[in-house]
Amino acid sequence: MTPGKGSGRDTALSERPALDPPSWFTEQANVQDPSITERFEDDWPDCWAAAADLLEWDREYDAVFRGSEEPPFEWFPGGRLNASYNCLDRHLPERKNQLALIWEGHLGESRSYTYRELYREVNAFAAALRERGVTQDDVVTVYLPMVPELPVTMLACARLGVRHNVVFAGFSADALAERMERTGSEYLVTCDGYYRRGSAVAQKNKADNARIAVEQAVEVVVVDSLGLDVHLGEGYHDYDSLLERHRGTDVEPVPRAADDPLFRIYTSGTTGEPKAVDHTTGGYLAHVAWTSQSVLDIKPDDTYWCSADIGWITGHSYIVYGPLALGTTTVLYNGTPDHPEKDRLWELIDRYAVDVFYTAPTAIRAFMKWGEEYPAEHDLSSLRLLGTVGEPIDRRAWEWYREHIGGGECPVVDTWWQTETGAILVSTLPGVDEMKPGSAGKPLPGIETAVVDPAGQAVEQGTAGELVVTRPWPGMPKSLLAGERWGEAATRGDEWRYYPEDGVVEDDDGYLTFLGRVDDAINVAGRRFSTMELESTVAGVPGVAEAAVVGADHPTTGTAIYAYVSPERGRSEEHLREEIEAAVADAIGEMATPREIVFTPDLPKTRSGKVMRRLLTAVANDEELGDISALRNPAILGELRTTTSNR
Ligand code: WTA
Repeated sequence: MTPGKGSGRDTALSERPALDPPSWFTEQANVQDPSITERFEDDWPDCWAAAADLLEWDREYDAVFRGSEEPPFEWFPGGRLNASYNCLDRHLPERKNQLALIWEGHLGESRSYTYRELYREVNAFAAALRERGVTQDDVVTVYLPMVPELPVTMLACARLGVRHNVVFAGFSADALAERMERTGSEYLVTCDGYYRRGSAVAQKNKADNARIAVEQAVEVVVVDSLGLDVHLGEGYHDYDSLLERHRGTDVEPVPRAADDPLFRIYTSGTTGEPKAVDHTTGGYLAHVAWTSQSVLDIKPDDTYWCSADIGWITGHSYIVYGPLALGTTTVLYNGTPDHPEKDRLWELIDRYAVDVFYTAPTAIRAFMKWGEEYPAEHDLSSLRLLGTVGEPIDRRAWEWYREHIGGGECPVVDTWWQTETGAILVSTLPGVDEMKPGSAGKPLPGIETAVVDPAGQAVEQGTAGELVVTRPWPGMPKSLLAGERWGEAATRGDEWRYYPEDGVVEDDDGYLTFLGRVDDAINVAGRRFSTMELESTVAGVPGVAEAAVVGADHPTTGTAIYAYVSPERGRSEEHLREEIEAAVADAIGEMATPREIVFTPDLPKTRSGKVMRRLLTAVANDEELGDISALRNPAILGELRTTTSNR
């Protein structure tokens, strides 16, 4: 078995060494008082005023929380605020000339914006959107790579009180069209193209195809990122020209109610369809600002870098809204960590003297594989705190990160959360808590969780179970506030609880070690894909008789996608392989193409005809198969083992 995300699992929890954060860190930390958990507990839900008070409200909220045991719930009812005002305007008196954004492109080109410059750009683009007729009922879809125009567009929407829906730039035209159509979005901001690993991606072509595919009429704004000579026909506008026309215009920020939506983002749900998550203006922003301050320890004069892509929730919360709400300098990098060289990230940390760095375990495993000589070439002593998010981090990767990036000194926060939670729910507080490599930590102050069995009953401490969140939190999305239940949760009992669908085990100190998803989502390099969506795409390829898709351990990406395909008679496997890869790239995007496509005359099935995915995972992982008595066609396993291991 390859060492993957699970390789830390065998370590008995009690054997884990606990590390205290160094005093040089705790003495300067934003949160230093260990009684914070108790205080939050005694004062729940009013404790969350601490988060709301990090923001400036146009109208003070009447209460921190309103609700009983059951939804509907309301956070900060009566309060009104504008997210763009909170991220820009209010910082101007004190730091108009401080950098808000440092952008670094893949070839070393860079641009930076002071708070004043970012304010101006956002105002000009907000004026342009308003002139194009964008109103509060609209949703502006944003289909941009990591360029400054991406956060500018988000903040311009927020300024007008309009929802944005950012679709990760690597998604295909079909995936973009599906999201636009579901949302009924009539505005799209995209670009001519961008470079990915040295080759140009024709982003506008994908956007054009999506525009044709959706029912509604769509106006498109095109950012000139590459200087490509693209045709802008009817309904298309050039970003720079729009901006030029509105330069110098100030747009009054539109105050929104605390529970008005700030943005929509799609994620993979338990069904084959993307799931829309709408985050709120007040609760969400308060929660991301508070966790940016207390967990990521961000200070206004820091240079902070989260290496995620803004196309996913991590970038929304911890590249854009959290850091800017606190008035810090946030770094935006459009490129890959190994291009042009494998020391690219370390060179940037060195150049910009980054204080806090937040990345994903999958990236850390790649750094480990490349070797410690790359970070060693650079001065990383500016770093004060390291963070990870996206999947479980095993102890070895955690320790490597702290040693080789953090100089053996920086505390590491392993932060657990999801698209649906909006902001971090589980982590150590770096100025207060001891760290246990491989274990994320306790629920944050004010957050309450439990570990349960499939029937929803609490399991004994030390026994693996499923995580449930048992109390509302400020960053919860609109559907949960309203009491809508998602997926599995709908069928489990009456009591209000949120099931994130993550396996977990709790130790004697209440620290949670995450074990991976319990639903059929596959987490590849910290990105969530739905098994059902992948499977129906693969099975839809002409010539495929049947297909099953599973996630199996992978040393770098944590999990990798394996597709088991039984072809129709007489089909060329090579041809089919290409067709399947193209179909997944078209339906979802290249980042979801299977790592392995294994052809097999049959899939392992139960007597009732259900595909036994568990066995396919075991084969892919080269693990024990366990109980196979339910299997109708056991002979197929031998064959699968041979084909899978011959690759
Ligand atoms: C996983 C990303 C273990 C988990 C912010 C969760 C983690 C899913 C961690 C959400 C962590 C995220 N330890 N697992 N520190 N952080 N996960 O919606 O399975 O893209 O449910 O949000 O990633 O993925 P999503």
